Amino acid sequence: MSDTDLDTTARTILTDNDQGGYTIPTKGLYPYQWNWDSVFVALGFATFDQDRAWRELEMLFEGQWRDGMVPHILFRKDDPSYFPGPSVWGTDGGPIPSSGHSQPPVAATVVRDLVDADATGQSLDRAAALLPGLMAWHRWYLSYRDPKDQGVLAVIHPWESGRDNLPDWDDALRAVEVKDIEPYERKDTSHVDPAMRPHKEDYDRYLSIMAACRGVDWDPAEVARSCPFFVVDPGVTFIFLRANRDLLHLAEKLGKTEEASEIRGWIAKMEAGAKILWHDELKAHVALDQRSGKQTDGISSASFLAPYAGLTDGETLGALQAHFDRIAGKVRYLMPSYDPEHKSYEPLRYWRGPVWAMINYMIARGFAEAGDKARAERLRADTAALVRESGFAEYFSPETAEGAGGGSFSWTAAIWLTWASPSHVEQAA
Ligand code: DGY
Repeated sequence: MSDTDLDTTARTILTDNDQGGYTIPTKGLYPYQWNWDSVFVALGFATFDQDRAWRELEMLFEGQWRDGMVPHILFRKDDPSYFPGPSVWGTDGGPIPSSGHSQPPVAATVVRDLVDADATGQSLDRAAALLPGLMAWHRWYLSYRDPKDQGVLAVIHPWESGRDNLPDWDDALRAVEVKDIEPYERKDTSHVDPAMRPHKEDYDRYLSIMAACRGVDWDPAEVARSCPFFVVDPGVTFIFLRANRDLLHLAEKLGKTEEASEIRGWIAKMEAGAKILWHDELKAHVALDQRSGKQTDGISSASFLAPYAGLTDGETLGALQAHFDRIAGKVRYLMPSYDPEHKSYEPLRYWRGPVWAMINYMIARGFAEAGDKARAERLRADTAALVRESGFAEYFSPETAEGAGGGSFSWTAAIWLTWASPSHVEQAA
């Protein structure tokens, strides 16, 4: 297929997955609105329909909880092809049935991107309407995912990280007692090869965490205090730090001085906090289990998001460049979601090795902003090569380019349109 045909196919995937203002990640496997999927999808729509891009974000914020959280899944209708559905989550925090935790807060960054890309200035009104919701969500993150005020954010469930099955969660997940779960039937493995999905032991614990949170009615302070899983995630932390910089830009542009000053405080705190995640021997930022106090021992693709977060000091950048080149010597396509030299690496199992297009996009953006255009371009070229090889798969083998997980995947299509496709190469990082 030519690149122009791929552009057309990508647009068709987005419009086919459109449910009337919001977009599902893929039919069958993920039949609802997912938080960060939707936000990347907005970037894809923005390449041919600005209004539709804004609608995606507005519909996501329609599901915002009273306490400020924007949930990871909005269940606008019941779909028996997905488990666990709304009755298992048992939440009551907002106007739309939803899951009970959040997902990486990319939205402020994309709102800024949409505003910056609109020469007419008309987008500013829509950004202004979203600003209070964004502020409330960011405050929620700081209150309930950083209760010790350290400048780093934890996740209360592997799914909150968006990187569900990462080896970083293994030890913390194993420590979760399996209890209070009913017999259940998974649906994911009827859509996708089980060898590419999490194991049953993982699902038992995913559901046990949900049961524990249900037990405290998803009260956010109580969840932060007692949830059996509470792991600081460099991915969410770096995405949030970046999002705060973009939120600050928006607040200043909109003349919101009080908000701007509040956000400046958040940025300073997060810049200092990130140091907690630095692993002296590995020379990278890694996850930290708040319940056991232990740092994890592997480098994930999120370690490479430090420059995206604006952490571009010489030590961090130099170390990441060295890791980048080392990993490039081990696999054909960058950036594997987990270090291919780590014992837990699996090239085709969900988040234990495969490449994701939207992670590549964010890493490349950070590297380019730090002045490393060559590595940013390598990531763009690899992402384009993966799509040319295997189409718009959910994720790809870093070794063979094999596509895996769901097919006709919205965020892969969106990232192709906004960044990897040669027709948008001028926007490449
Ligand atoms: C799933 O069901 O696998 C989802 O990734 C949860 O977000």
